[in-house]
Amino acid sequence: EAIDQTLERIELGRFEHYMQKEIHEQPESLRMTLSGRVDSRTANITLGGLTNFERQLSHFKRVLLFGCGSAWHAGLIGEYLIEELAELPTEVQYSSELRYRNPLIEEGTLAIAISQSGETADTLAALHEVRTRGATVLGIVNNVGSTIARETDAGVYLHVGPEIGVASTKAFLGQVTVLSMLAVYLGRRKHLSRDTISTFLSELERIPEAIEQTLLLESQMREIAYKFSGRQNWLYLGRGINYPTALEGALKLKEVSYIHAEGLPAAEMKHGPIAMIDEGMPVVVIATRDVTYQKILSNMEEVRSRGGEVIAIVNQPDAQIERLAKNVVVVPRTQPMLSPLVASVPLQLLAYHAALSRGLDVDKPRNLAKSVTVE
Ligand code: G6P
Repeated sequence: EAIDQTLERIELGRFEHYMQKEIHEQPESLRMTLSGRVDSRTANITLGGLTNFERQLSHFKRVLLFGCGSAWHAGLIGEYLIEELAELPTEVQYSSELRYRNPLIEEGTLAIAISQSGETADTLAALHEVRTRGATVLGIVNNVGSTIARETDAGVYLHVGPEIGVASTKAFLGQVTVLSMLAVYLGRRKHLSRDTISTFLSELERIPEAIEQTLLLESQMREIAYKFSGRQNWLYLGRGINYPTALEGALKLKEVSYIHAEGLPAAEMKHGPIAMIDEGMPVVVIATRDVTYQKILSNMEEVRSRGGEVIAIVNQPDAQIERLAKNVVVVPRTQPMLSPLVASVPLQLLAYHAALSRGLDVDKPRNLAKSVTVE
């Protein structure tokens, strides 16, 4: 016991908890994910695990992504990336639903299992189900040599290092990073020009640095967490590729702080959840710049006029934001398709400090397991 504790102290270094350490490790982790794989100068992507698959990959007509928890959220972001960059129709399923459905696997379906541990029972079972029905299955896995990694036909490892904190942080960003590489990889023989690829990859290479800057927001996120610590209901709103970011932000808060949070595509709020908004209710809105920016400002207005208190995650603040949001969190600008990689970070910090403000054990939240190997 005493030895375990000493080892833990050494591993944690200057950090209090694994969750905090893993959040701060993300720039380095993602450098490992990208290392040797992405070269913006030559517009090349090298995915070692897919080398023998290169020829086959251009024949796939559609993609089916599946996973559980944060891995499923990464899949939802992957759907936007693959549709946009590879122009392949893509759907995302919860492993636990997929395995008991009657999935119609058409010819030319590339199925992709997403899992940090590589041991999640539902994801493994879904893999078997779609394989039996004729799909080729790739894995996006962190744990090298795990069951899912061994049972897939090929795959791409995250290389983010071991994740100890129960709430996924660096593995989630690793999954999104792999999916963005994979989207370009699948799209590069199609419509994507060399210039487009090169620009996208150089933006991707800059992400670790952008996350480094984002981590400087920790004290601001801590302040916001303490300010709203007493509130038991939160909403997280996002649109487009940042709708899944909102889902993931809400999940982080629920997992470690036991505060109820709901993630929504911002415009859906008016079809029900808006009824919950009362004076001072915290509403996190991801409002980084893209085609939906003006729309999300109107959603903020709807929240504000009902007394909700907006916490806006933005990458180009303006007068409208200052008017609508009492709490403005400014993250670095990125290519819009890559914004979830940066916008997720303040939400992780927010959840972490919300848990601390309530005196909870962030690394071992009640009722949760790091890897769920039973159904
Ligand atoms: C558990 C963890 C989650 C994780 C999910 C999927 O519920 O608590 O953080 O997202 O399993 O795990 P996997 O290892 O398959 O990514």
